[in-house]
Amino acid sequence: MTTSSFETIGKPPIDQFEVKPNLNPDDVSGFDWQQLYSELDWLPGGGLNKAHEAIDRHANGPRRDKIAMIWEGKNGEREDYTFGQMKRLSDKFAGALQNLGVETGDRLFLFLDRIPELYIAFFGILKAGAIAGPLFSAFGPDPVRDRLEDSGAKLLVTQPDLRRKVSGILGQLPALEHTIIINKNNREQTALEAGDLDYYEQMDAAPSDFEIVNTSQYDYSIMHYTSGTTGKPKGAVHRHQAAVQQYATGKWALDLHEDDIYWCTADPGWVTGTSYGMMAPWTNGVTQLIYEGGFRASAWYEQIQKHKVTVWYTAPTAIRMLMKAGDDVPKRYDLSSLRFSASVGEPLNPEAVVWGEGAIGMPFHDNWWQTETGAIMCANYAAMPIKPGSMGRPIPGVELGIVDDDFNPAPVGEDGNLVVRPNWPSMFHAYWQNPTMYNSKFRGGWYVTGDRARVDEDGYFWFQGRADDVINTAGHLVGPFEVESALIEHPDVAEAGVIGKPDPIAMEIVKAFVALNDGVEESTALRNDIMRFVREKLSTAVAPREIDFIPSLPKTRSGKIMRRLLKARELGLPEGDTSTLEDG
Ligand code: PRX
Repeated sequence: MTTSSFETIGKPPIDQFEVKPNLNPDDVSGFDWQQLYSELDWLPGGGLNKAHEAIDRHANGPRRDKIAMIWEGKNGEREDYTFGQMKRLSDKFAGALQNLGVETGDRLFLFLDRIPELYIAFFGILKAGAIAGPLFSAFGPDPVRDRLEDSGAKLLVTQPDLRRKVSGILGQLPALEHTIIINKNNREQTALEAGDLDYYEQMDAAPSDFEIVNTSQYDYSIMHYTSGTTGKPKGAVHRHQAAVQQYATGKWALDLHEDDIYWCTADPGWVTGTSYGMMAPWTNGVTQLIYEGGFRASAWYEQIQKHKVTVWYTAPTAIRMLMKAGDDVPKRYDLSSLRFSASVGEPLNPEAVVWGEGAIGMPFHDNWWQTETGAIMCANYAAMPIKPGSMGRPIPGVELGIVDDDFNPAPVGEDGNLVVRPNWPSMFHAYWQNPTMYNSKFRGGWYVTGDRARVDEDGYFWFQGRADDVINTAGHLVGPFEVESALIEHPDVAEAGVIGKPDPIAMEIVKAFVALNDGVEESTALRNDIMRFVREKLSTAVAPREIDFIPSLPKTRSGKIMRRLLKARELGLPEGDTSTLEDG
């Protein structure tokens, strides 16, 4: 992506907005994180707990009866929960966990659709002092097993259909002591498997006067697995302290105000769904919509109209799909409630930013961050002119840099590695039990993001690409190694190489090159069978959308698959010159 040819989209002076923006990015002099920390409530015992900041502080104060969550289920069900109810239910779940012997620092995983109980259980886990690991419900058995195994998870909270999907791997996890099943609204007529626990029975048996564990700001709270170029996904671990940056960026980058109805379309299986689908709105005491259904252009516009959404946080692939659905669709809905819209996860095309102006009444505000950063680091703010195609400017208190491979600052306007000065409040604190990998990310006095970018003369950052082979498909990072490993488990596959192939909607799709075992005939049926095999093992989000058969894979002398060469061939670039590739 290059600097856009679109004009800057200007903004009126800050006092001319109908709702005054929370941040004037040109006036952040004297900024101090201490001020933000003092806006948090803290625990009576002096500690800090994300569940207290997001739920209890409001339940104990004037927002007690304010709606925290408007839930619309996939079958059109509607349930509302006040902050007071969220507190009572998450207290109960924390009590149930203590009854089961859960202790501070235990890893407890959630494998659920976006039902209210996912949010209740999540905060119950934090209240019990344990670490919450939310999993994307579209995952197949292998990613679930890898994450539970690596983290030594003690407990899994899931639902009947998802439990069936992964039943084969549960016996392979010696550390897993309990499986709690939530059969939401009796959607399924199934009996519990032997040994499983019923969520509602556990809740009934739990005490109602749970006292939140006095965690410190440095204690671990959440882990999200993220993919790299090599090896299996790594568990990025965050501390309770991250709450302060999630709170601050909810104000600054999403411009949340007291009366907003906020909708974040991300699933809590990914970091956006916890940092911005739980923490940012609720630490700010804002009502949010949780929509369980999947993507459909008309259904999404209908959510905005029906629930009078004012602030909307979504992703480029979804925006491109809305664009593809056509400009007539939004015209059929009243979207006038919308006041601010933002996007994250992949590069947002300048065309998509501008399209927002006509279709939903405002441009999309792109922002940038990562699983490891825990919160937004760079953003187009409400009160700032947007440069379409740019990720905006760093948030107050965060220093971003563009450096060459020797950590010399790159000149303005030139590509380099995007780096961050360490110790921002929501910085990840470990890759679970992988200090070597963690330490390798901190070099030359910087945290190295793995992205390449440039900065312009006005201090706006422009994403240029990844510095490695990691694939970004529809906003999900996919490690090629993980997909290659799954492919070669198919009985007919000898070896496999996986790349990201540019795609107009998903940005990249996962494409595999496969060499078959001697004597195996290539066929469409076999190609489909291999695709299905990987889809069932991993997930549809990760499995290859295209497979090419080739006689053998290009490798280095040490036997490493040359993904860059595969990509050069795919893109029709000269094989000897791969310098124009993203990972070149
Ligand atoms: O490559 C960047 C891309 O997504 C990566 C982070 O992915 P993940 O850890 O899954 O976190 C997603 C939620 C923030 C980044 O290293 N990315 C993220 N935001 C943008 C982006 N690429 C371009 N523009 C963005 N605004």
